[in-house]
Amino acid sequence: MAITKAFWKEAVVYQIYPRSFKDSNGDGIGDLPGIISKLDYLQDLGITVLWLSPVYKSPNDDNGYDISNYEDIMDEFGTLADWENLLEGLHARGIKLMMDLVVNHSSDEHAWFLESRKSKDNEYRDYYIWRTSNEENTPPNNWSSAFSGPAWQFDEATGEYYLHIFSKKQPDLNWENPKLRHAIYDMMRFWLDKGVDGFRMDVINFISKADGLPSAGTEKLAWGGDYFMNGPRIHEYLQEMNHEVLSHYDVITVGEMPGATVEQAKKYTGEDRHELQMVFQFEHMDIGSGPGGKWDLAPWTLEDLRSILHKWQVGLAEEGWNSLYLNNHDQPRMVSRFGNDGEYRLESAKMLATLLHTLKGTPYIYQGEELGMTNVTFTSLDQYKDIEILNMYQEKVVEGGADHAAILEAIHVKGRDNARTPMQWDGTPNGGFTEGTPWIEVNPNYKEINAELALQDPNSVLSYYKQLIALRKKSPIMVYGDYELLLPYHDSIYAYTRTLEGEQWAVLLNFFADSVEIPDELGIDLGGKEVILSNYPTEGREMNLLRPYEARIYRIQ
Ligand code: NOJ
Repeated sequence: MAITKAFWKEAVVYQIYPRSFKDSNGDGIGDLPGIISKLDYLQDLGITVLWLSPVYKSPNDDNGYDISNYEDIMDEFGTLADWENLLEGLHARGIKLMMDLVVNHSSDEHAWFLESRKSKDNEYRDYYIWRTSNEENTPPNNWSSAFSGPAWQFDEATGEYYLHIFSKKQPDLNWENPKLRHAIYDMMRFWLDKGVDGFRMDVINFISKADGLPSAGTEKLAWGGDYFMNGPRIHEYLQEMNHEVLSHYDVITVGEMPGATVEQAKKYTGEDRHELQMVFQFEHMDIGSGPGGKWDLAPWTLEDLRSILHKWQVGLAEEGWNSLYLNNHDQPRMVSRFGNDGEYRLESAKMLATLLHTLKGTPYIYQGEELGMTNVTFTSLDQYKDIEILNMYQEKVVEGGADHAAILEAIHVKGRDNARTPMQWDGTPNGGFTEGTPWIEVNPNYKEINAELALQDPNSVLSYYKQLIALRKKSPIMVYGDYELLLPYHDSIYAYTRTLEGEQWAVLLNFFADSVEIPDELGIDLGGKEVILSNYPTEGREMNLLRPYEARIYRIQ
């Protein structure tokens, strides 16, 4: 099949969670001037697109994912003029800007919602999803919120409930209403006309709800995902958005889509369908969870991870395009989750980086990943700030009587605040993130793990990321090459080839802390083959043995 080239396929995206990136004014909260002060760092790293988590006006119930004004900047982060400077600084360095688009819901403090809740005949009433209760004092259906408790909130003023799949300060927008849809398209044009280069779309596959909003089974509370994930009108809405807005600009788009399958992703990202370019799928984020869901910790195997990544590689080989990520602001740190954040932190962070940059798709780096930043083990609940963690603790421990220590352990492993501790810039107090008191404590390992040290060390995780990114920029095979799995049943090695126009590379990754022999079933004679990049020095290399977490990229043709 002919290859269609595109900047967003060749891109290396870097995600900034602004609250935790760099504070410039000592209020303990990261901000836009802080980001601007680090643009040279990003350019030096080599990334080509910046995805900025929300910077819009927000009361911060969910750190900016609850937006009260889509066309202005959050006070803590700066001003629209700061934002213009950021865009200019990025573009001057050849970096594109992808904004977060959060339009499944707004804040309850958005002007639309303030109007909507006033009366049943308000002109904004239908911008949100209002229902009466079925029986006295019960919500309209049994859906639970992603942040614990019911997904419905009763509102005194009109005696009806509104739907909120996330917190009660994040009412869901009613996409059935064409006026709402067009207001969103106008807002998207507002940013695109200012020069924005694309959007990451928050839970965008939640925007179409099933007719009648049926209850999910008979439990008192249950996740209603079957009735709003990939809902009946989702493709129609995305095609309309593409037709109205996206098709008029040369942009990068990625839709965050919990629960999306390969088959659905083909529809969302197939080039002839005119919807989106990529989705963030979640299947590999769900490994390591038992039947009780996210907080029910369970072991995982390489096969669990590989079979999912492989399925997506093969599934989107001809149609659609993959996004490649192992962590973000909602997930624990990749090196703690899939690698080894103790003895083999450097090796395993680099091995995972090799995976991300050599699978077929567009890699997404989350701030601090390039330093090998790790999870944090706060010992007191007060140190945690995330609404998901705090609501879950309230529900499970305070109201449900679950064991405090067990839940704290689950938070250590899975909590979103693992990713939200401040970026570790140097060894000065608070890791150089702020001169004030940070809104969330810095990970105490900042004296050993920080950008200043990494920049000086040719062996650092950061230096390795730079090598990988530079390699990708000059090697079309890393972007466009076909993927083929090797050693499909191996317990500790993930191996595959990439092939493009007579050139072939092999990638070998040891996922564990024991050395492992490369079996003959690999089917490739590695003798005399060039190692293009490895996370270990050449010295001590044995052709048929991978050391702990060793990664090698070979040129075999
Ligand atoms: C997904 C975002 O990434 C997450 O941070 C947020 O809490 C929810 N969507 C709700 O917006």
